[in-house]
This record gives sequence, structure tokens and C-alpha cells, in this order.
Amino acid sequence: RNVTVRLHRDFAIGATDPRLFGAFLEHLGRCIYGGIFEPGHRTADARGFRQDVLELVRELAPTIMRYPGGNFVSGYNWEDGVGPVAERPRRLDLAWMSTETNEFGTNEFIDWCRAANIEPMLAVNLGTRGGDAARNMVEYCNHPAGTALSDLRRKHGWDKPHGVKFWCLGNEMDGPWQMEAKTAHEYGRIAHEAAKMMKWIDPSIELAACGSSGRRMATFGAWEDTVLQHTFDHVEYISLHTYLNNYDGGTPAFLASVDLMDNFIDEVVAIADAVAARRRSQKRIMLSFDEWNVWYRTRRNRAARVKEGWPVAPPILEEPYNMEDALAFGGMCISLLNHADRVKAACLAQLVNVIAPIMTETDGPAWRQTIFHPFAHFSRMGRGRVLRAEIDSPTYSARYNDPQGPINDYYEIPAAPYLKLAAVHDDRAGTLTLFALNRSLDEALPLSLEAGGFGTLAVKQALQLADADLKAMNTKDDPDRIAPKSLATVRVQGGKLEATLSPASWNVIQLS
Ligand code: AHR
Repeated sequence: RNVTVRLHRDFAIGATDPRLFGAFLEHLGRCIYGGIFEPGHRTADARGFRQDVLELVRELAPTIMRYPGGNFVSGYNWEDGVGPVAERPRRLDLAWMSTETNEFGTNEFIDWCRAANIEPMLAVNLGTRGGDAARNMVEYCNHPAGTALSDLRRKHGWDKPHGVKFWCLGNEMDGPWQMEAKTAHEYGRIAHEAAKMMKWIDPSIELAACGSSGRRMATFGAWEDTVLQHTFDHVEYISLHTYLNNYDGGTPAFLASVDLMDNFIDEVVAIADAVAARRRSQKRIMLSFDEWNVWYRTRRNRAARVKEGWPVAPPILEEPYNMEDALAFGGMCISLLNHADRVKAACLAQLVNVIAPIMTETDGPAWRQTIFHPFAHFSRMGRGRVLRAEIDSPTYSARYNDPQGPINDYYEIPAAPYLKLAAVHDDRAGTLTLFALNRSLDEALPLSLEAGGFGTLAVKQALQLADADLKAMNTKDDPDRIAPKSLATVRVQGGKLEATLSPASWNVIQLS
């Protein structure tokens, strides 16, 4: 039967914040070394930045970049990564059992962000370190001049302050795998004190407290509640992380699992607002979904995560993405868009080589994985007001296996609509863009859309990502095996649209 969607120009969920389209660079595997930074590569500039990677980054269009971790940050001394490169220490990185050379550090990261026209997002170490190191890092980065740390930055060659606005108070501090993991109470106290000092140095910064490292954590819910009770007055955001999997090899459940991201967001909003309610506060804590992606093949397999002998930049977490991953990934983009009122920042984890849309060959080319395409659509065409869409679609039920937390369990998903959709109106560009995922593996969806308040619409562009082989991947030898093609089945008359969405397809229809 037909799937109908009704929306109106005047009814919006909220406007997308530019920071919703972020990504993540961690000192992990070949993300930095051999990823964005490869001195000696034929495209590298004088600073060692690979220009072929930068070109793909510009095409992908992330807006904000989280750095330097991730698990890595919980053992990181930021001082190791500044100053003359030859004097920087080599250290054991206990997060990824690698050797960190520190050739690349905060100042290089800021330069790379400027070259890519991306806002930097820095995380401080609240694992092995605490408030003192955090406040010093803010002073080094953001204080103009005239103090030991700001003058040290200037001596290192960066005269002007970096002006970093967005800071993460540690990473996944609830996870036993984290260096110096903490209880919610311990973390809440440390985050509160660090936040206070960081803002005394630079009141213009915005801070994100660590939420749960996943919805499956046994402490989920209680963690957010306790952490926010400690930090409510000092932070603007609470973080969320989600990695979807297809361990069971069941594509329908994998695609349905995207809806759990919607549940997770709604739950964190409810907890944050409950903390506000108890304080009779009008303040609303926003959400920073600062790690999200599909990740499972290289996750539970230790051999794929750790190489013996403390190597430098080993090829770990190099997850290959296929067609069905791109569909689940596209669904996650839709979930983020549909929560634009509360999710004000988000970071695709990660950017290059490590669970990444962009892959590189050492000494060789850079290429796009399947998930590159939905992200580029999401970032390039997702700016504007997300409209409330009334969707009438048949549904299916699924059981999803998520064994990543201490509760090794299945989720029941009783009613996943075959059509998952977000609609974004960009008033300035005069466009209405539909992001539509058909989760039916064997049936095309006949879509009818009524868009009120727009007058006469015309198709500006219509694209589709689909392939009969859901396991098909892009590889270095065949990097464009999965790429968007034009969607020819769209007809528009007045404010009404009819389209046929192929089975298992990601579709982007832009009207003007
Ligand atoms: O993105 C890979 C890892 O996943 C990050 O380092 C960590 O924060 C999360 O567990």
C-alpha cells in the first residue's frame, strides 16, 4: 500500500545546528598518522597534511571535529603534543596498546581544522588527570598572552589564541575499559570542578559532560541523572554514544535498530529535563551525540583491535562498510535530524581509516567508503528547519542483538515503519529536502507526500543509494562500486509528490 507523508512549512521540530554535522579524529590506528597526516606523501603540504584527504573531507563537509579522543584522551598529557617536535616524548598508549609519537598535537590539529574550515572540539583528560591539566589546556589554547602558558603557545609559533569554544569533559568515564573510569558521583565532582575553572579562564566556552557510553550500560539513566546533578550549572551539553551492529547477520533487525537511537535521545532528554525540573530551572541541557556510527566487525575481535609489540599507528578498527551499513547509517542521520530541537552537536566516529567514511593507502590514494555518501547528503542538504512529518507507513517487528554492555540482551522492536524520513526546509536556499530510507528488503515503497504551505514545488535533484547486493562494498580497487545515482521515479505537481523508493534504498529528494 501507499506510504503517505504530510507536512507543513509552518510546523517545525527545530533548526539544525551547524554542529550537528561533525566528525571525530582520535589518536587511534591510522586516523591521524597515515590518515590526515602523512609527511612525505605525494600530496602532503609542508605541514604533512594530505591534500587528497582534505579534498575528500571538504566533499564530506563535516562542520566540527572532536579531538584527540576517545579512549585515548583518558591517558593523554596534552603537554606532550606541543613544542618542538624533536623533543616530544614517545609514550605507551594504553587505550589502543600502541606507541604514541606525539608528532601531531593540539596546535597541528588546530591548523588542520583551519585548513579544512572546520570548528575544533577539544576533549580534556579527566581519566588519569583532572581539573588542573584541563584548566591549563584552556589557558594554553585560549588565553591571549601575558601568562606562562599563553606565552608558551606563542613561543611555539601560535601567536593568536585558538579560541576553541566547544570542550568535552573527558570521554566515556562510565566504561570499565577507560583509563581511570569513575562512578557517576566521582566523575560528576571532577567534571564540576574542572568545568568551573575552565570557564573562569574563558567564560565563552561551552562544555559537554560525559553521558553513558551506550544505552546498554547497566548504569545508563542513573549515570546521567547523577552527573547532571553535579554539573548542571556548569555545562551546556550531555554526551551520547551509539554504535549499531549486525552481529546476528539479520538485515531487517539491523535496519530497525536505528529507531533505538530515537529512544536513546528521548530518554536522555527526559532525564536532563527531570534534573532541571527538580531545580525548578528553565535551563535546558542540550545533547551532544559525539560518537555515532556502525561498528562491529573490528570491535569484538581483539586481533583486529590490538597488534602485539606496541606498534606506531597500527591498522586497527579499519571497518569495511557495505551497502546495508550505509542504509543503517543513513537511518541514523534521519534520527539526528528529527531531534534537531535537542541534539545540537553530533560527531560521526570517526573520519579517516578508523571506522571511517574515508580510507587511505599509505603512499597511495584516498577513497570513499559506502557511508561517505549518506553523510555528505546529510551535511550538505540537512541545514535548515526540520519539519514535523506525519508518516503513515506499514511497520515490521524485529529483535536486535546488542551485546556490547554488561547486559547481554536482545531488544524487541515491535513496530519499525518501513519508511524512515526527515524533511528539512532551508528558507534561504528555498529548498525542501527529503531524506528517506526504505527498510523493506523486497518491496518498493510508493510514496505520496503532501507539503503544505509551499505552493508549487519542482524537483531540484533526486538521488538514490541502492544495490541488489547488500553486502557490496567499495574497495581501494573499486572505490565507486556503491555511489549515489539519480532517482528517476519522482513526480511533483503543485505541493504533492509521488515517488517510488526501491527496496533497501537511501533516497534524497530536493525540491525547490
Ligand atoms: O571511536 C572508537 C572508540 O569508541 C572511542 O575511542 C571510544 O570513546 C568509544 O568506545
